[in-house]
Amino acid sequence: MEALKSIALLDSGVGGLTVVKEIFKQLPDERIVYFGDTARMPYGPRPQEEVQKFSMQIIDFLQTQYVKMVIVACNSASAAGLPYYQGNVKYPVIGVIEPGVRAALSYTSTKKIGVIGTAGTINSRAYEECIRGLDPAVEIVSLACPLFVLIVENNLIGAKETKKVAEEYLRPLKEAGIDVLILGCTHYPLMAEVIQEVMGPEVRLISSAEETAREAQEILNEKNLLNPSGNNSCHHRFFVSASPENFVEIGEKLINMKVKAYQVILPAI
Ligand code: DGL
Repeated sequence: MEALKSIALLDSGVGGLTVVKEIFKQLPDERIVYFGDTARMPYGPRPQEEVQKFSMQIIDFLQTQYVKMVIVACNSASAAGLPYYQGNVKYPVIGVIEPGVRAALSYTSTKKIGVIGTAGTINSRAYEECIRGLDPAVEIVSLACPLFVLIVENNLIGAKETKKVAEEYLRPLKEAGIDVLILGCTHYPLMAEVIQEVMGPEVRLISSAEETAREAQEILNEKNLLNPSGNNSCHHRFFVSASPENFVEIGEKLINMKVKAYQVILPAI
């Protein structure tokens, strides 16, 4: 039965687990299957075509795992080719950019929005296009913060240098006087505390995880695909492309459950 299948999620590493956490909160009866491409992360500095190929390769793998929906839980991969994945997959495929933008627009009163993300996401201008498409009057200040992904993946969020890096990166945004900041990389919610500290309490941080989970819920509901059977956490599956230790350590803390991750060696493309 279609509704009993899993929701597939992919990211370059642990970042997409911020979306998984929200799925568990909003859709506790659903099973997930997750792929973190830890051998090839970070995606941010890579060319768009390469990220698109990597993402499609992973989606193809995930489609062998009894799934009913794919969530591209990575902004860089969403920016690199969401319409392409949607055109090549028979299940609903959603990304993380539009849900975050909708949330940001609902919170801004000054209509001055900041966006931070990987170099790939920021250079793609995917956020600008999406924001302008929904509200052309909004002023956007966007900025790449490439080191944040490496800080998260290397478990350095608490290190004293991290605050300095954040202060350095975020200075232009502080000076721009935004009232909403979109965390345009799924790794960044893991650094929300330090980002909030640097930006100050008057700036609202938006993680697209919450909105993405809501959109997934809406689509599954509309298509009659919500799991009616009740959850069994033993059925969640996690795959990574490098050795799983680091992913498991960070992942268990983040989603607050035992994580068993299996390594899948992806063929070079
Ligand atoms: N978490 C990803 C994103 O949302 C990818 C970060 C990276 O690998 O550079 O963009």
